[in-house]
Amino acid sequence: MNFRSLKYFIWTIKNRKSLKNWKIRNFLPPSPDSIKHQVLINNNYSDSLWIETGTYYGETTKLLSKISKKTISIEADKELFETSKKKLKNLKNVELFNGKSEDLLDKLISENFDFKNICIYLDAHLCQDHLKNIQTFGSEDTATPILKELEIIKKYYGKFEKINVLIDDIRLFYGNFQNYPDKNILVDWCKENNFSWEIEHDIFICKKK
Ligand SMILES: C[S@@+](CC[C@H](N)C(=O)[O-])C[C@H]1O[C@@H](n2cnc3c(N)ncnc32)[C@H](O)[C@@H]1O
Repeated sequence: MNFRSLKYFIWTIKNRKSLKNWKIRNFLPPSPDSIKHQVLINNNYSDSLWIETGTYYGETTKLLSKISKKTISIEADKELFETSKKKLKNLKNVELFNGKSEDLLDKLISENFDFKNICIYLDAHLCQDHLKNIQTFGSEDTATPILKELEIIKKYYGKFEKINVLIDDIRLFYGNFQNYPDKNILVDWCKENNFSWEIEHDIFICKKK
């Protein structure tokens, strides 16, 4: 077995349960994390800064640290933040912040203008903690800070050569779930702010034109 086949074999074994469940769900969204991670990898830029909102247990943060020069992640829930801080303490290019992304994002972007390219993964929202079986930070009527996050990001269009904004869980953006806006609002944001857009595996991807 050559190195590529071995890597593929290990990947399949590691992800067999989630891939099997996905097949049982007729490959409907959401795609398994391993597939979503590949979308992030495919939308990375060299020597980029990644900012993730919603660290949760730090699994995606770990992945982003491997493909970025620096990864920043913001988590509002104090306990999740502390857990991830311990778990990721050996990753030297990772900076974790405890607070609401809509309060911290502006400052964190503006402190990093020395990066040519920035990729932002917007994934902060109320969700079910799969280990503790309780709800994470947030409430139904303020479940996602997405509109506030986008208001912040648009101010920095001219500050980076390349900007990718990846918004997770686009299946929830139909305008009638919690405070999620309809996906047309995201499309309008892209048109107004000179971004192209596409959807891959439940992730809405905006690219600076
Ligand atoms: C779906 S999880 C994030 C998953 C993580 N990005 C990953 O890929 O593994 C959403 C997280 O966002 C956090 N959260 C909710 N509202 C937030 C806010 N306004 N600012 C920052 N984090 C928030 C929740 O506590 C939860 O941990």
